[in-house]
Amino acid sequence: MPGYPVLPEGIAYGGDYNPEQWPEEVWHEDVRLMREAGVNLVSLGIFGWSLLEPEEGVYDFGRLDRIIDLLGSSGIRVDLATPTSSPPTWFRTAHPGSHLVDRAGHVVAGGSRHSFCPSSPEYAAASERIAGRLAARYAGHPAVVMWHVHNEYGWANARCYCETSAEAFRDWLRERHGDVAALNAAWGTTFWGLTYGSFHEVEPPRLAPAGQLTALQLDYARFSVDAHIANFRRERDAIRRFSDLPVTTNFMIPNCEPMDYWRWAGEVDVVSNDHYLDAGRAEGHIELAMAADLTRSVAGGRPWMLMEHSTGAVNWQPRNLAKRPGEMRRNSLAHVARGSDSVLFFQWRASRYGAEKFHSAMLPHAGTDSELWRDVVALGAELRELAPVRGSRVEAEVALVWDWESYWALELEWRPSVDLRFRERVEAYYEALWREHVTVDFVHPAADLSAYRMVVVPSSYLLTEAAGKNLHRHVEAGGHLLVSCFSGIVDENDTIHPGAYPGVLRDVLGLSVEEFHPLPENGTVAVGDDGLTGRIWSERVRLAGARTVRAFTGGPDAGHPAVTRHELGAGTAWYVATALDPGVGPDTDGDLRAILRAALDAAGVSRPRGLPDTLEILRRGRHLFLLNHGDEPVTVPGVSGTGVLDGAEYAGSATVPAGGVTVVEPAPDA
Ligand code: GAL
Repeated sequence: MPGYPVLPEGIAYGGDYNPEQWPEEVWHEDVRLMREAGVNLVSLGIFGWSLLEPEEGVYDFGRLDRIIDLLGSSGIRVDLATPTSSPPTWFRTAHPGSHLVDRAGHVVAGGSRHSFCPSSPEYAAASERIAGRLAARYAGHPAVVMWHVHNEYGWANARCYCETSAEAFRDWLRERHGDVAALNAAWGTTFWGLTYGSFHEVEPPRLAPAGQLTALQLDYARFSVDAHIANFRRERDAIRRFSDLPVTTNFMIPNCEPMDYWRWAGEVDVVSNDHYLDAGRAEGHIELAMAADLTRSVAGGRPWMLMEHSTGAVNWQPRNLAKRPGEMRRNSLAHVARGSDSVLFFQWRASRYGAEKFHSAMLPHAGTDSELWRDVVALGAELRELAPVRGSRVEAEVALVWDWESYWALELEWRPSVDLRFRERVEAYYEALWREHVTVDFVHPAADLSAYRMVVVPSSYLLTEAAGKNLHRHVEAGGHLLVSCFSGIVDENDTIHPGAYPGVLRDVLGLSVEEFHPLPENGTVAVGDDGLTGRIWSERVRLAGARTVRAFTGGPDAGHPAVTRHELGAGTAWYVATALDPGVGPDTDGDLRAILRAALDAAGVSRPRGLPDTLEILRRGRHLFLLNHGDEPVTVPGVSGTGVLDGAEYAGSATVPAGGVTVVEPAPDA
């Protein structure tokens, strides 16, 4: 199978390049400046469909030929895109049946990208055709090193509710359930007497008057992912007929909730991801680390590509805050530290037109006499020094369970509390681990867990029986498990597992839950007698083999277990019956970190101690990455080797400047 490395050398540096927005004389300046910045890869043609195929079936590759030749002759390689995320206006006009329809039945307007229905046969035919044409023409071109299919599947058209989609959904249901009796049984349609007499009666989960069959909604979510994957496969296979180069499509992990990237993972030759900071968020670098770890995990631990991020402000947030000095560099190197073999941006040159003219770029409107440009050039030089990092792996002893199906299920309507959110809980656990300097992988709950000392399950509401057994086996075999409230409640059809909660986890946790007692808005509950505070959730836990580590000392379950521990086989399973927050600060023993530390210690998870939690520290292959997100220099003990970026020799410790990054390669015999 084609795959890494896509470049003959080092870390890929560059970004989306949209020369179609500029007169050809500008291209020469672009290429000259790309060389100055050390750009070695650009993603080309992402939005070029209307120029390549100005009328249906009429092609003009002249401009694309010229720009690819120019880039190639300048030593800049091309990640050649299929332009299918933004069909031409003629396509929309000629094929009204392809228009995207929202949940309320409105036809979504054009004048934008992603305005097509993912199940449209007209779109399927047109996108396959243009992908095949491109592949046939450029497959052997020496500048082209990989293929970039589409752009961010599901970004704005994740689910369409038109009649074509409804028909495709019915076919998909026939395939999944076989007959309508099986569908009725799976969906529990005796509830409210919603039994279907035939597949034909099934409608997509369009806007409904009241709570809708949740299993219908889950199946629609799965069907919609499959519709996008089918579109990808069609283009990929059209390319494959002419080219063996790696094919990717840029994911949006984890910020496109409707896309189940575990399902996508096996489809691409190289996982690539787009990541943008939420600028309004304090310590956005923790969410960045989480996204990078999740991307690496979707890639099965292999190196992946950061396909897009920003040099500075984006344009689509309410307040588009610029990155602070040093932040672009830290962000870029954090992605590399967590397994990316590229640092690519949206976009090379700032655009003058349309919706994204205020989006930052490598080359800003202000031109080269700007701080941003100087930073871009400096980063290019540093990435050349990091070439030896390419291809190496990040190892983790702890895994966090992440399941998009559970994400969808927990976010559906009519749950015990609107405050208990999948993403919020995962982030709380991730943040606590990050602050403890623990490197984590993400896993699907049914995945092989044998590589991990400890597995953390933050509010994984939907867990199949198979996943429950998998977690059970992990503990019996000597692994450690930490589960938080409202996990293992329903199966894949959102049906409650039989008996007391949490169905598939009762045995492994050695307890059951008699009743949930969610807290009022902003309510808190005391846990133990040393100041721990739970939020959102309390519940009545009944022990059946586990022992109490801490009890609730207030609220509806005062005197009953809040944190428990169960020895089972050779391992240990912990349970946290409320929402604890990740304490901030180096020496905090507060809330979640108090529990986490005990569980990590019991599991024997190795990690550096005594460092401030503004310091990000992890190893990729032989290289040690130290990123200081704080305003003070930090001295890290136990560091010896050569500074890759600064050339310094470290013997016993390294001091990382405020806001700085140090990468150390240990001596060969270390
Ligand atoms: C991405 C997209 C790019 C650009 C960018 C702006 O989601 O792939 O084309 O729109 O956002 O931040």
